Amino acid sequence: MAATIISVINQKGGTGKTTTTINLGSALSKLGKKILLVDLDPQANLSYSLGVTEPAVTLADVFTGTKQLADILVHQGNLSIAPGSNELVDIEISLVTQEKRESFLKNILADAKGFDYILIDCPPSLSILTVNALAASQEVLIPLQMEVLTLQGLNQILNTVAQVRKAFNPKLRVKGIVVVMYDKRRKLSLEVEEYLQENVDEYIFSSRVRQNVKLAEAPSFGKSVIDYDPASNGAKDYMALAEEFLVK
Ligand SMILES: Nc1ncnc2c1ncn2[C@@H]1O[C@H](COP(=O)(O)OP(=O)(O)OP(=O)(O)O)[C@@H](O)[C@H]1O
Ligand SMILES: [Mg+2]
Repeated sequence: MAATIISVINQKGGTGKTTTTINLGSALSKLGKKILLVDLDPQANLSYSLGVTEPAVTLADVFTGTKQLADILVHQGNLSIAPGSNELVDIEISLVTQEKRESFLKNILADAKGFDYILIDCPPSLSILTVNALAASQEVLIPLQMEVLTLQGLNQILNTVAQVRKAFNPKLRVKGIVVVMYDKRRKLSLEVEEYLQENVDEYIFSSRVRQNVKLAEAPSFGKSVIDYDPASNGAKDYMALAEEFLVK
């Protein structure tokens, strides 16, 4: 069966996209799923955070046609990684003038065989790279912090998803919003949460990811939090999210 492809998007920087892609992916792999993580961000934080620090070949080489997807994959058990690199900036620029510029990643991922889920870590923008991710995906996952400004951003994301759905990908659906860096002691969190429940139709995962320092530490050890500290709240929250993800 073909993999389900999911874009992890939020155009705002530092909202937990990479942390969610890595740790949800890792948690799903622990539940026996075969996972491919695609690092579509020129910052290449995902690759680095999983110990893939200086890959000789990256996704940029697949975009240019120099390499096949299989040539660049790094395998870590049930988890495989398509590393990103700063060269994705050049790819982004060159895509702008290409025909069918939105479908490059879709064509690349058509060669990905043997995975249950493919999670794409997107850059913090609604750029042509992100549009490529959306055009290649069946589903979208939105990590969101409970802050007032994020609500404005959420509308923008949902608009972009709607536009891509209309233009290239009628089956694209929002799988859900993942509340991250959650601090239930903060009054603001509760207010934003109420607003979300009342005003947003999309599914909000009941598993929330709390603020947890282990999530911020794990990348320096090149590991997911589930490998770095399985007993931490960060690991527990992403394992719970993975269980919910599979039944949702
Ligand atoms: N639940 C959490 N608790 C504590 N720290 C977190 C949590 N989630 C993410 N972080 C930290 O917050 C920072 C931003 O997270 P992350 O890199 O996942 O965001 P991002 O959306 O991918 O950022 P960018 O837009 O730059 O790609 C990182 O330092 C990360 O370790
Ligand atoms: Mg990131």
